[in-house]
Parts: sequence; structure tokens; C-alpha cells
Amino acid sequence: MTGSHASAQAHAMLETLRRDAIGLDVHYQLATGERTRRIYLDSTASTLRLKVVQEVLDRFQPHYSNTHSVLHFSAKLASREYQWAHRMVLDFVHADAATHMCFFTGSGATAGMNRVARTLREKRPERDLVLTSIMEHHSNDLPHRKHFREVIHAPAILTETSLGSIDVARLEELLKNHGARVNYVAVTGVSNVTGIVNPIHEIAAMAHRHGALIVVDAAQMAAHLPIRMCGHADASQDLDVVVFSGHKVYAPGSPGVVAARQSLFAGIEPQDVGGGMVDTVWVDRYTVSDRFPDREEAGTPNIPGAIGLAGALYALERVGMETIAAEEEALVRSALAKLATVPDIVIYGDPDAKRFRRTGAISFNLKGLDHALTAAILNDYFNIAVRNECFCAHPYVREMVMLSLAEDAERLDNAALERLAEMHRGMVRASFGIYNTERDVDALVHALREIGARRDELAPLYRRLANGDYEHIRFRFDPAQTFSVKGEVDRLLG
Ligand SMILES: Cc1ncc(COP(=O)(O)O)c(C=O)c1O
Repeated sequence: MTGSHASAQAHAMLETLRRDAIGLDVHYQLATGERTRRIYLDSTASTLRLKVVQEVLDRFQPHYSNTHSVLHFSAKLASREYQWAHRMVLDFVHADAATHMCFFTGSGATAGMNRVARTLREKRPERDLVLTSIMEHHSNDLPHRKHFREVIHAPAILTETSLGSIDVARLEELLKNHGARVNYVAVTGVSNVTGIVNPIHEIAAMAHRHGALIVVDAAQMAAHLPIRMCGHADASQDLDVVVFSGHKVYAPGSPGVVAARQSLFAGIEPQDVGGGMVDTVWVDRYTVSDRFPDREEAGTPNIPGAIGLAGALYALERVGMETIAAEEEALVRSALAKLATVPDIVIYGDPDAKRFRRTGAISFNLKGLDHALTAAILNDYFNIAVRNECFCAHPYVREMVMLSLAEDAERLDNAALERLAEMHRGMVRASFGIYNTERDVDALVHALREIGARRDELAPLYRRLANGDYEHIRFRFDPAQTFSVKGEVDRLLG
């Protein structure tokens, strides 16, 4: 096949996935009374699902069977696919199946990171410190704090405008200063707030030079960039552990995934014990299987979750993550440029894509407007779904908000500055998946311009609730009018 033919085929497959994503033609009634199509810009929280994956799961359902059953036809089929799901994950992250393994966890990347922290503490108890960064989601911070004596957060590079990627020079100093105590360096591949991409392989080589391991939170990487755990010409750039979750990679449910060097988990008592992970059990003792992933997956696994996730990864791999990455980075660059033209907008994170690669997400505020109010108006008047607040990354958000207020600090008195800081205790985040297009970006830019221009008319239509959210004074959305499980069961049973 020629290069251009392969590329045309990749784009055709991407177009199929994009066009058929489930939820692109959902309509809701707005505060204006109009009924319009929802524009989904919240993929960093959870992506929409792929129809291809849903269809595959529908076809699997009649064969569903417990993978701990062995000899009947459905059990053979389900077990084969469940095993394939593990191989698919290793393939997707370019891990060597001879040295690496993966296992699925219950609740997203968070469950995975907790498992990693506890295991590595037990594996290397003499190393009681973890280095992470200011950019991390709480899931790649609090598990390390819980299990280790000390966690140090490396800063992000401070540029003249804002923050960039992790400051690797500072990280290296921390490694030099704390060398023998550092168990691992845990960093995110892509920020869930700014979409800034971190140089994880450079960090890996640095960590390895100092005897530390590298753990990558790939929750925001998996859908947007290729992941290469193994096979670098310089093997010190290989990754020891990668964690991500299915609901951020177009899969239904929220299986989490840990891919890791087998040697790191070998010999450590698994966190959960029960069926499926033991060889023999007597009343006074049991022997844990030394097979991966069995020993890490006690109990009946989330079989459809794992298969759905692997199906999604396979579909992405058929398109090619390089193709997806190039398209998404181009969309984010264009969105950054277009958003920068909106009056009174503050975009967080250094916006110069030549200095810092960005993908997946952009966070911003309209000056003088509470993030929660902006998000509520975007929803109620423009049918644009975004996330707001601190995105489980409080330290990073706080630091960028305070930096952005530095200019105001010179001209405002203390009370006014505090009001502004309180208002901007969070941000609005627009985030993207393979199904988003320039039209969605244009719709967001248009909406933000309108909100800015009509703020005196729109803001008084909302009251602030005790929890910081905003409620329209007249318009109400009753979710049950659109969908309820009970209602659907009643309808189907008659
Ligand atoms: C960078 C990052 N890490 C970890 C997580 C936690 O993932 P999960 O919700 O699947 O546990 C998230 C979720 O938003 C994230 O964005």
C-alpha cells in the first residue's frame, strides 16, 4: 500500500469513528425555549463513546460469561477476548509483553495509581520519597502522599506569560538532592487543565540516572498521543509504569488500566485477595498465583469494560495515534488562536505552541465573570457542555490564577483584588475529542463573545447557590423528562 493510500484510509476510518460517535446529535431545550444540538466540549472529563465499540459490545453480550468459568463455549469465547484485551493494551502502549504486564482496575486511573503507590512502597521500602509536579491531578498526587513519607512537587517552567511544562532542570536538582530516597517520579503526560504536554521520556532518562523509577499518569495522553513504554534507542527513556482509564479513551464504563514492568509487582502481596488470584487455598494458608494479570485481578473482572476499552484502543490504533495526535494538536492550536481574540479572556498556561506542545484541553476565564456563571450560561443559552472549577488540580489552578492576577494587583485595592481572586478560584475548561471540529471551536468563540457583550443582561438572570454553582432564576432543566432508568424500564415492560 502506498503512503498516500494508507493515509487516505486512516483518515476515512477516523471520519467513520468521528461521525458515528454516540451523543453528537443529542438535543436539549435551552433557556431561550429553542431546542438545539448539544456541543460536547468536556472530553477531558469523559469522552463520548464510539458506535463501533458499542456495536461490538452488543454482539458480545449474548456470549457474555464469567471468565473464571472454563469449559463451556461462552466461557472460552469470553476468556479469549478478555486475554486479548490485555494484549491489546500492551500493544497500544508499546510495552514488551515479555517484560511488562497490565491489569484492569475498578474505578478509572485513580484506582490504578493507588495500587501503584502501595506496591512500589512495599517493593522499595528504603526509598520513601516521591517526586511529582505541581501540574498533577489529585489522583497522581494524593496516593503518593498517602503511602510515602514525603512527596515533593516540582514546579512548572515560569515564562513571561504563565506556566509551561514541568521544569526538568528543577526536577533534576531535586533528584540530585534526594537521590537515594526517591522511589519514583510520577508525572502526567498531558495536563488535564492546560493540555500542556510534558517531556516524559527526558524525565524518564533523568529519573533512571538517579536510580528512581518513572510512573506516567497517561489519563489525558491515551486518547490524544501515542504512548511508548518500550523500544527507545536509549533504553533509559523507557517507562516503568503507565496508568490510564477507559472512560477517557472512548470506552464505556470506567475500567482503569495499569501497565508496568512485571518485576515491580512480582513478589508483592496483591492488594485484593479472593477468587481468581490464588493457586491453592487451605484453611490455614493460600498460595498466590505468580501469573500476571491473574494475581492482580481478584474477583470477577469488569469483562465488558475491559473488552470495550480494548476495542476502542484497537480502533484508535487502526487509524494511527500519530494521525489522531496531529489532527488534535492542529485543532487545539487553532482554538488557542481563535479564543485569544475574545475580549477580556484569560487563557491559562503559556499559549505559545512552539514552546510547549498542547493537546486536548484549554482552560480560561472571562475577566470579571465567575467561572461557574460562564459555564452555566454556555450550557443554558448556547448548549455548549464544558467543565468548570479546579478540575481536581487545585495547586496548579491556584498558581495560574494568582499569576494571572498579578497585573490587576498593581491597579486594584486589596478588597477588589480579593473579590477577583474569589471569583476566579476556578476556570472554565473546553476539551476536545476526535469528534470535535472547527465548527465547535467557532461556536464556543461566538458564545463567549456574546456572553461578554451581554453580561449585564445575562448575569442578573442567575443566582449563586451556596455550593458556588449558578441557577437560572426562571429556567429549569428536569433530567427525568429526558431520561430515567426507571422510566425506560417502565416503558419497556409496559
Ligand atoms: C490527568 C488525570 N489523571 C488522573 C485522572 C483520574 O482519572 P479517573 O477519573 O479515571 O480515576 C484524571 C481525571 O480527570 C486526569 O485528568
